Amino acid sequence: MGGRPLKGRISISGAKNSALPCMAAAILTPEKVTLHNIPYVRDIITQRRLLEDIGATVLTPELRTHQITASHIEIFEAPYELVKTMRASVLALGPLLARFGKAKVSLPGGCAIGTRPIDLHLSGFEQLGAEVGLEAGDVLARAPHGGRLRGAEINFAKVTVTGTENLMMAATLARGKTILNNAACEPEISDLAELLNKMGARVRGAGTARIEIEGVEALGGAEHTIIPDRIETGTFIVAAAITRGDLEIRDCRPEHLAALVAKLREAGVALEELNQSTLRVSGDHHIKATDVITEPHPGFPTDMQAQYMTLMTQANGRTAIAETVFENRFMHVSELQRMGARIHIDGHSASVDGPVRLTGARVLASDLRASASLVLAGLVAEGETSIQRVYHIDRGYERIEAKLRAVGADIERIRESVSATLSASLEGDAAIA
Ligand code: EPZ
Repeated sequence: MGGRPLKGRISISGAKNSALPCMAAAILTPEKVTLHNIPYVRDIITQRRLLEDIGATVLTPELRTHQITASHIEIFEAPYELVKTMRASVLALGPLLARFGKAKVSLPGGCAIGTRPIDLHLSGFEQLGAEVGLEAGDVLARAPHGGRLRGAEINFAKVTVTGTENLMMAATLARGKTILNNAACEPEISDLAELLNKMGARVRGAGTARIEIEGVEALGGAEHTIIPDRIETGTFIVAAAITRGDLEIRDCRPEHLAALVAKLREAGVALEELNQSTLRVSGDHHIKATDVITEPHPGFPTDMQAQYMTLMTQANGRTAIAETVFENRFMHVSELQRMGARIHIDGHSASVDGPVRLTGARVLASDLRASASLVLAGLVAEGETSIQRVYHIDRGYERIEAKLRAVGADIERIRESVSATLSASLEGDAAIA
């Protein structure tokens, strides 16, 4: 049943969206790259499969440590089968092109949160001298003769996270200097740059909108620890606030969550920074309707929009939520409405009227963060909420039901690999391979 206040301590896993590009970066060198704090989630398993499929060796001496050696790469492509399940497979393109002078990737199709093209990645590669063509649904990219890309100044027409990462990786082995303007500033970009620099790259300015990369001849092995997942952190903050609980959230990096923390405080959530890696959410929060607009970092993250919307169903008053990063990221709305939420969508904005008493229902998860918002709704809903297709949650949250149960939620996974029931119980069908 929903309604139980969460109490206790919860520990944050490594950031999926940092681990994915860092794993791809291992393609840039024949030497061993050791990554610690890799989250145990499905997207990571998919990325590992991609690396192994192209010929890299991936060892896991411990569950969250990956040792990747890309000394014998035999295939220079990210196949459709993987790209269609995970767009981040396109992160293999930049490193393959940079080191081997050629790469092929299936064009990602549409996905639940919009069309999500990769045109900015491709035009960036072209500006680095690559020839980019389309062949039977696949993109083929080739470096100019000699096999090396050449540095250039690239102005992104729109801020793109994986686009910035792909170009940053490609530029590490290019001849000369590359400048990326209007680059994404997400903490995951800085984490990747730190790894690349440990591998011998010369990247400056990551975390700002202007990144400079001086190409080097070759990169070597390195060891790196992935930053904590700021979106998992945010999701658990909301879980504590919405249940009026008292949670200590450990192993996180509050500095990566500034906009979110500020917004939640404005909305009445009592948040305390106990130290550099611990947050406490406590007290009887009186949630106030507080408008939000999603933006690239350092703005309010689109990856927290759905969870924030669930919180606002419990707020006093009307909240306007504008989604500016993705064209279609309100799939959770119809499911929240089925649980009793009063939400109205108008183009890229939603208005939420609260507080409402949510009631348990059978709902369908449509993407990763939408699923998280339904879990949060189930935590406060009256009666049992059953969430189908929870494999979406498993793409990016490490055993969310186990972490929540440990702090008092009534939640269980009914079946591996499709859905979970929350009552809260999470009804099964979700799988962590
Ligand atoms: C990253 O996706 C994250 N994924 C997403 O995480 C996150 O929602 C998103 O950044 C925004 O923060 C990873 O890091 C693996 P974008 P990405 O390129 O890089 C448009 C999650 O839940 N665009 O920054 O694919 C695009 O359509 C997720 O963990 C182009 O038009 O996002 C979107 O409207 C899902 N052309 C906007 O830019 C391009 O070539 C921002 O997308 C590239 C992007």
